[in-house]
Amino acid sequence: MTHQPPIAMLAELTHRCPLSCPYCSNPVEMARQEQELSTEDWVRVFREAAELGVLQLHLSGGEPATRRDLTDLVKAARDAGLYTNLITSGIGLTERRLRELDEAGLDHIQLSLQGTTPEMADEIGGYKGGYARKMQVAGWIKEIGFPLTLNAVLHRRNLHQLPRALEMAQEMGARRIEVATVQFHGWALQNRDALMPTREQAKEASRLVAEARVALKGKLVIDYVPADYHSDYPKRCMGGWGTTGLNIAPDGVVLPCHAAQTIPHLEFWSVSDHALGDIWQNNPAFNAYRGTDWMSEPCTSCDRKLKDFGGCRCQAMALAGDASVTDPVCKKSPHHPDLAARADAHAASDAALVYRSAPGKAQTEPAE
Ligand code: SF4
Ligand code: FES
Repeated sequence: MTHQPPIAMLAELTHRCPLSCPYCSNPVEMARQEQELSTEDWVRVFREAAELGVLQLHLSGGEPATRRDLTDLVKAARDAGLYTNLITSGIGLTERRLRELDEAGLDHIQLSLQGTTPEMADEIGGYKGGYARKMQVAGWIKEIGFPLTLNAVLHRRNLHQLPRALEMAQEMGARRIEVATVQFHGWALQNRDALMPTREQAKEASRLVAEARVALKGKLVIDYVPADYHSDYPKRCMGGWGTTGLNIAPDGVVLPCHAAQTIPHLEFWSVSDHALGDIWQNNPAFNAYRGTDWMSEPCTSCDRKLKDFGGCRCQAMALAGDASVTDPVCKKSPHHPDLAARADAHAASDAALVYRSAPGKAQTEPAE
């Protein structure tokens, strides 16, 4: 059986990053610089992706700007016919570099926002002066005229800044804002106690987004990722496993989603050993949760199964210990009542932030 090609590919060019956000979805065991794919490898992979049918390439990390060959990679991706989106904190981008990226054909930038004030942004990013730097980069992005999406990751500590984030997106000339409540994978999972929003915050965010969508219609598109631990139904993660997208880790391992390596029994293939099309079609890990055949009750007989594909496999693994069961976020899951109680307990914790860092070097915020 031949599977439909993916539409989008996320290339995690590196796990290196000048920031150390506690909400990072990168794995706790990160790839080292010497394990990263070379320029030539990435260029080959971009060509293979285009041949496979991929249309959009998201260049991500870590911070992709820490790769010196970023402009060459953008050019190669454009030459292969891919639409290119750079997902960045802005740190490491100069005006000159942005102009070079523009010349290389970069189509779009997605700029992350850790907070709407220097105090909040620098605390969450763990990088003093990061906010001021980001604002400077936002100015250059606007001047050059890159289409921009602002990506605000929100959690218990900064959810009250959502109204200001919406204003800032408009001031920056963004066409779109992603209001993403933190998802608990990788480093973020280590910080569930410190970052879990309260039930009231989650409700208020949904209300504000609904209102803003009406008020800003035609001016700003708002993509919204709600706080799923406080939801009744799960998200359709990755558009469905092995359906519309794939991720490539910095070392060339190809994954159905960024957290897939937390599912221990799956074996993922690398672009160093296999062609991308072969991996998409034939790696058993991609076929493990494709479609609906793998499902069990309550998903099997549910009329939403083609809507959410049973939710997130990695979340089922993390919360229920089994990637093949219904995502516990779903109110039909037997694990759901327990999850709701745990979410409130996480939200009531006064745990300190654990900053993302090199393996084995987690830093905790200083006690006040
Ligand atoms: Fe989705 Fe399964 Fe819940 Fe139905 S039972 S809503 S398919 S997760
Ligand atoms: Fe892996 Fe959702 S993050 S399926």
